Amino acid sequence: MPELAFHRRRREAFLGRLDGPVALFAGGWRARNYPANPYSFRADSSFLYFFDRVEPNAAAFFDPADGTVRLFLEPRTPDDALWHGPMPGFEALQETQGVDEILPIGDLEDAVARLAAGRPVRSLAVAHEATTTRARKLTGEDLDFESAAGPGDPALVDLIFDLRVRKEPEELAEMRRAAAVTREAHLAAMAHTKPGGTEGYLNGIVDGCFARAGCVSAYPNILSVRGEVLHNHDHGNELRTGDLVLLDAGAERPTGYCADVTRTWPVDGNFSCEQAEVYEIVLAAEKASIEAARPGARYRDVHMVSARIIADGLVQMGVMKGSVDAILEAGAHAAFFPHGVGHMIGIDVHDMEGFGDRVHYPNGRERSTQFGTAFLRMDRDLEAGHVFTIEPGIYFVPAILHDPKLGEQFAPFIDQAAAERFLKANGGRGFGGIRIEDDVLCTADGPEVLTADIPKERKDVEAAVGTAG
Ligand code: GLY
Ligand code: MN
Repeated sequence: MPELAFHRRRREAFLGRLDGPVALFAGGWRARNYPANPYSFRADSSFLYFFDRVEPNAAAFFDPADGTVRLFLEPRTPDDALWHGPMPGFEALQETQGVDEILPIGDLEDAVARLAAGRPVRSLAVAHEATTTRARKLTGEDLDFESAAGPGDPALVDLIFDLRVRKEPEELAEMRRAAAVTREAHLAAMAHTKPGGTEGYLNGIVDGCFARAGCVSAYPNILSVRGEVLHNHDHGNELRTGDLVLLDAGAERPTGYCADVTRTWPVDGNFSCEQAEVYEIVLAAEKASIEAARPGARYRDVHMVSARIIADGLVQMGVMKGSVDAILEAGAHAAFFPHGVGHMIGIDVHDMEGFGDRVHYPNGRERSTQFGTAFLRMDRDLEAGHVFTIEPGIYFVPAILHDPKLGEQFAPFIDQAAAERFLKANGGRGFGGIRIEDDVLCTADGPEVLTADIPKERKDVEAAVGTAG
């Protein structure tokens, strides 16, 4: 856990750059079906950035006029103590949280009116609608969590983005801890992979590794032999010889900091010749994009490094045809690599993606409208302290290769007969997909892979499969 000093320092930096009061909200429980049966609570990420051990329905009021921070929490009641256990009192928490005052959340509106004394108060929408409604009423702002323009006033969003985007040593330490737990989970899933096993069993192994370390999944685990379904959350398949398991899973620490890692391995521990050939292209693309991820590099160019290697590799294999330059210009590589090369990572697995393209595509840059590259989630110039994923992949997707519009668009660049062989490979189940993903810290001395000790060389992956008793 980071020291209290870490959160206090963040709050002081925030107050030092604010020009008016701000109320932030943690959000609350969300019901699975009826109110008393909620999903696990997950606090808003910007709230987690400023506070440790965040409680549901917490709010905070930051006042730059006198440099104070007040927390608003649910009152401690005997009923709560009975059902959920006793909680530390406000006085004790004021000390451990290092804030100026703690007040009951029911007093928020009156207290903010008194403290703001007519000054406008800004806030951010959060992923809990009732809380956002409260923030809207409190501030008079038109806050909308789903808005593509971001969760609040652009100046406030920019300020919090700027604070969060370059990771400090304590944050990196948390991300390394998340990476270590993620390594355990990936190694355990590889070790327990056997023909006749099931995706569900491996998924339980991953969840168990996370839980054992006090972590949760930072996003629903993607664990499937149908890796060509990019965000495949189904775990219903049996594992059969010839299948590739694609695992995209990362641990999230109680502080919110997380990892996001993908590995792909053969169910029986042996890549076939064709699987090995595709794997080596993806691995070469991943390594080259990592190598290109240096301060000053534009992230879209890092994406295109992978796109070029994938296009070239598929031409060598006879799956694509034509010049690599022409393929890239037409965006035809996206027939097999239909997503972006990665995204920022931190307290959110796609860090601050909810802040919108205004921060992720700065300086008038706009998202490509081309199929595939349109899913590139950011296009910033990289700086030391940025942490992002690099995650190229090659997939044989019937929904792309048999799509009439895309099929026509990409026809000049695809050897359809070769593509069909991959779609029908593996006893008709199809080749599937291969993705390799690591979390990378940009430093002045070059890229540092935070998840480097999770095996990805083909021989190391093969050696890790099926070793559990
Ligand atoms: N790990 C899933 C994603 O990056 O979209
Ligand atoms: Mn990712």
